[in-house]
Amino acid sequence: MSKLWGGRFTKKTDQLVEEYTASITFDKELAEEDIQGSLAHVTMLGQCGIVPAEDVETIKSGLNKVLERIRSGSLEFSVEDEDIHMNIEKALIEEIGPVGGKLHTGRSRNDQVATDMHLYLRQRVVEFVGMLQKLQESLIGQAKANLDTILPGYTHLQRAQPILFAHHLMAYFEMFQRDIERLQDSYKRINVLPLGAGALAGTTFPIDRHLVAQQLGFDRVYENSLDAVSDRDFILEFLSNASMIMMHLSRLCEEMVLWSSTEFSFVELDDAFCTGSSIMPQKKNPDVAELVRGKTGRVYGNLVGLLTVLKALPLAYNKDMQEDKEGMFDTVKTLQGALQLFAPMVATMQVNRDRMRQAVNQDFSNATDIADYLVNKNLPFRQAHEIIGKTVLYCIQNKKYLLDLSLEEFKSFSELFDEDIYDVLQPEQVVNARNVYGGTAAPQVSAAIERAGEKCLQTASWVEQHLKE
Ligand code: ARG
Repeated sequence: MSKLWGGRFTKKTDQLVEEYTASITFDKELAEEDIQGSLAHVTMLGQCGIVPAEDVETIKSGLNKVLERIRSGSLEFSVEDEDIHMNIEKALIEEIGPVGGKLHTGRSRNDQVATDMHLYLRQRVVEFVGMLQKLQESLIGQAKANLDTILPGYTHLQRAQPILFAHHLMAYFEMFQRDIERLQDSYKRINVLPLGAGALAGTTFPIDRHLVAQQLGFDRVYENSLDAVSDRDFILEFLSNASMIMMHLSRLCEEMVLWSSTEFSFVELDDAFCTGSSIMPQKKNPDVAELVRGKTGRVYGNLVGLLTVLKALPLAYNKDMQEDKEGMFDTVKTLQGALQLFAPMVATMQVNRDRMRQAVNQDFSNATDIADYLVNKNLPFRQAHEIIGKTVLYCIQNKKYLLDLSLEEFKSFSELFDEDIYDVLQPEQVVNARNVYGGTAAPQVSAAIERAGEKCLQTASWVEQHLKE
């Protein structure tokens, strides 16, 4: 059979052009969605009396046979048929004869491909919300196990104030919660049906777009046919959300790489998530964390790539838009790979609490608390800051930590110091003194974990409601 659009042509397509313009090598990924969309379209054509009922049945059973052949791998796609849409239509006509040619009535590949991608991303977004929720559960698990693990909190990567390790982990919970909410919000704009827009202007056939939307589980149909076929915002939104997720993962990756270094030794990553060196027998490298950090680059690249493809593109469909797919598929795979490994990597991470505690004991991260101590004795904060700055300098010069100072030494800096300063300086006390909503005190962190658990349950039920088989 010749090309589906061959009528207007007198010459064969140049072989290189055929290869250059074809998208089948990558859009075959959309085969299931393409058939799903076609089944709904032809059903509607029947219901609207555009295609006779018996033809509709023949086409539906033909499409199901094509689907089986695709699933079993027995259907060979050809570059000659350009893309997944025409490969499937060709296979359908081969399967059931010329009646298969009725499927494309009132439809264009422009609204068809947009529909396929809406179907595809809609499902991926729900799956990603589910994967993020699993990662949140791992973080909650580690946080619960580390409600009394204290480590130095950092600013400028310099020790700042002691915090609970649970509190640190729950910061990541919040980032992933925002990612989840962004994905959930984007779902509203993904779950819109373009089909029925035709090539760009609508169709002369008396189709019912709402019927198709209902069958495919779309909440709405696109309001404007030109917009329906030229909108790729929903893909950009996904790529942008994916970029932000990767950015969050890469920050945690960086911390895991640092924490597992000998210099920090705060955590040990499970052997199953590390690899060795071909030359240095002692090495255990945090490759997964490094690679997720590294793969963040390609996800950003895919976002910038598509933004650039769409920039200044006139309405409506342009072939440039075929470039929307590879970056999207690559991002989906990259994100799946990362999230799949991340939840168990976090869950199996061994936390070296003694080492964290030792780090806290050997720093000045309780300095703010002595300043606050003097403030509570009615000294203006700025003066207290100055006094403690001098006290710390004295400690550094004399190779001591604050807890090593005698009461006389303290008193030499301010008469306001008393015996109770030693309690104030204990790391537990320093942590628990920050008993403000969202702070690191143990009761606050426990309450935060409690609230997080509820959010996790809500997310799980959202995923369950939105997963379509
Ligand atoms: N393979 C094309 C794409 O992915 C499908 C739409 C083609 N439409 C057209 N009129 N050439 O964008």
